[in-house]
Amino acid sequence: MAILITGGAGYIGSHTVVELLNANKEIVVLDNLSNSSKISLERVEKITGKTVTFYEGDILDRTILQKIFSQHNIESVIHFAGLKAVGESVRKPLHYYQNNITGSITLVEEMLKANVNNLVFSSSATVYGDPEIIPITEDCKVGGTTNPYGTSKFMVERILEDTVNAYPQLSVVILRYFNPVGAHKSGLIGEDPNGIPNNLLPYISQVAVGKLPELSIFGNDYNTPDGTGVRDYIHVVDLAIGHLKALEKHQDDRGYHVYNLGTGIGYSVLDMVKAFEKVNNIKVPYKFVERRAGDIATCYSDPQKAFEKLGWKTEHNLEQMMQDTWNWQKNNPNGYQN
Ligand code: NAD
Ligand code: UFG
Repeated sequence: MAILITGGAGYIGSHTVVELLNANKEIVVLDNLSNSSKISLERVEKITGKTVTFYEGDILDRTILQKIFSQHNIESVIHFAGLKAVGESVRKPLHYYQNNITGSITLVEEMLKANVNNLVFSSSATVYGDPEIIPITEDCKVGGTTNPYGTSKFMVERILEDTVNAYPQLSVVILRYFNPVGAHKSGLIGEDPNGIPNNLLPYISQVAVGKLPELSIFGNDYNTPDGTGVRDYIHVVDLAIGHLKALEKHQDDRGYHVYNLGTGIGYSVLDMVKAFEKVNNIKVPYKFVERRAGDIATCYSDPQKAFEKLGWKTEHNLEQMMQDTWNWQKNNPNGYQN
């Protein structure tokens, strides 16, 4: 039996493939490499000493999905494939909806035809919009998303919930990630953003490595302890292990299951800058600028449900997030294009 990982060459996907291979699972990856490199999977093989079956292709392409489902004995699908750049989604909404929503529908249609009934879907804390309570629990209101990327996640969740109601043989797990950061401790795989990073930690590490002059901190007048935005940063290896736990718990466990994957701890932008500087002994110049449109003040999870039901909790602290980010960045200043 094998697990199909869509988007498995990407940042979170590649780290999850490592954890699944370490747990002796057989892995098939489907990725169109639109935001990743095949080298990540070669590195995964180096880390684990195991092999990955790779298909370069698109989740919108039924032929390749049919080929995979007929040639491999797939028991579960972990569905990472998607576009994730918030700003780009505002400029190209149809592209995002087509890729993320139509892509997910196509995948699930082909799963149903092939009688593959287990799905884990990569969702995001963005579905909570501006959260009604902090820490955020899974039963907080969703919707109120502020960009097409976030709306695509919200809509795929709804589509999957309706689909589970119509096809009760399905087991669907929705994992709402908070802010994934860090890298595998080997320094062989990590986040390799295209162009100038949107996210905080890749930006900080590119300033540290000298590729960018200084960090712009978006707002210092939020209603938070130091005025900068507060988020729940989670080490990508902890996140990856969350997928393994979700599979183990809900394999053939019919129904629709939703979990937050976060640490439950909120750190501000300034906390992150100071921690990076201290752990890695490198100065990160920064300046304060205007707030970024669409940002909220505070977002962190209540991870209790995942702890109680999946037996999962995060093991990596802020120091390890910073160390591992820097280890990846300094050894791969140009990402996978060395
Ligand atoms: P990523 O871009 O590194 O990985 C996504 C992968 O999917 C890439 O390898 C890309 O080439 C592939 N892909 C995209 N469209 C595809 C298609 N149509 N067919 C086949 N492959 C396709 O991103 P990531 O950070 O690893 O994110 C993985 C998932 O987690 C995404 O769905 C993302 O929206 C979600 N997520 C990410 C974050 C985050 O901050 N990184 C937070 C919440 C949720
Ligand atoms: N920030 C800066 N300067 C930067 C980048 C970010 O000050 O150059 C600040 C932001 O204002 C925010 C914090 O750092 O306060 C984190 O910002 P990120 O862009 O790293 O992360 P977000 O919380 O904005 O969004 C991330 C993902 C989304 C996802 C969301 C919730 O990018 O895709 O987490 O999971 F939806």
